[in-house]
Amino acid sequence: MKYIALITGASSGIGREFVYAIDQSMDSIDEIWLVARRKDRLEEVSQRLRHHTRIICGDLAGRITVNRIAAHLKNDKCRVRFLVNAAGYGILGDFDKGDRRDETGMCDINVRALTDLTHVCIPYMSKGSRIINLASSAAFVPQTGFSVYAATKAYVLSFSRSLNSELKVKGIYVTAVCPGPVRTEFFEIAEKNGSKTLSLKKIAMTTPQKVVKCALRDSYNKKEISVPTFIMKMFRIMCKVLPHKAIIAATSMIYK
Ligand SMILES: NC(=O)c1ccc[n+]([C@@H]2O[C@H](COP(=O)([O-])OP(=O)(O)OC[C@H]3O[C@@H](n4cnc5c(N)ncnc54)[C@H](OP(=O)(O)O)[C@@H]3O)[C@@H](O)[C@H]2O)c1
Repeated sequence: MKYIALITGASSGIGREFVYAIDQSMDSIDEIWLVARRKDRLEEVSQRLRHHTRIICGDLAGRITVNRIAAHLKNDKCRVRFLVNAAGYGILGDFDKGDRRDETGMCDINVRALTDLTHVCIPYMSKGSRIINLASSAAFVPQTGFSVYAATKAYVLSFSRSLNSELKVKGIYVTAVCPGPVRTEFFEIAEKNGSKTLSLKKIAMTTPQKVVKCALRDSYNKKEISVPTFIMKMFRIMCKVLPHKAIIAATSMIYK
């Protein structure tokens, strides 16, 4: 029996930081599996690790990569101790002006691939296993100019919370991570069509290290939601108490 941690989005940003943190802190696993498209990046990450690794280089937009992971899990008789679904992207701008493939691609990666991989991994999990899903503070309220992205993250938050409730009886816990802006390559892709992130949002920027430290602590403490910074905790409360119509109207005015 081989105990593994499986991390998507392992070539960059928050996913890569999860790899480093799990590599340093978890002696109870035999291998870390790294999933992303950029092979050279995954090899670089792998060289820095104490643990054995398996590099799974592939696009999560189709089903092929998840099918390959399913086959590896079966053939290697694995137990998944940690699944981190960090692969994802967002594109800023008006939906009707955006590229059709970019817009639907967010649903493919942020939603479908995350759901598919989770479904594939659960049979290989047992008491003490953890699932960490990267949602976002964009999940708390619809976002003008980021409509598909915010909707995909609302799905991740909702899915993670109900799955956590379903899996608790098996001793498996799910945590949805909801950071505000994090300093990663995310914004290079998000701003590629010329729309810029609000400078107000960028004031709240945090680091992937802080997000991951908080997420791992919250996951160990069996929390269903992890919000890493004070500002975003306040934003979450605001989204609970104020009418969403008012928040959407206010953010649309700034957006325009
Ligand atoms: N940065 C933020 O401000 C922020 C805030 C809240 C939530 N998040 C969420 O956190 C997660 C990680 O984002 P990040 O900030 O770390 O961004 P990032 O640095 O751009 O990393 C994104 C990762 O996803 C992988 N990925 C993207 N498309 C893929 C595909 N089609 N197939 C396989 N892998 C794919 C990328 O790898 P390859 O390109 O090598 O395939 C990369 O490793 C995302 O789900 C994001 O929505 C980010």
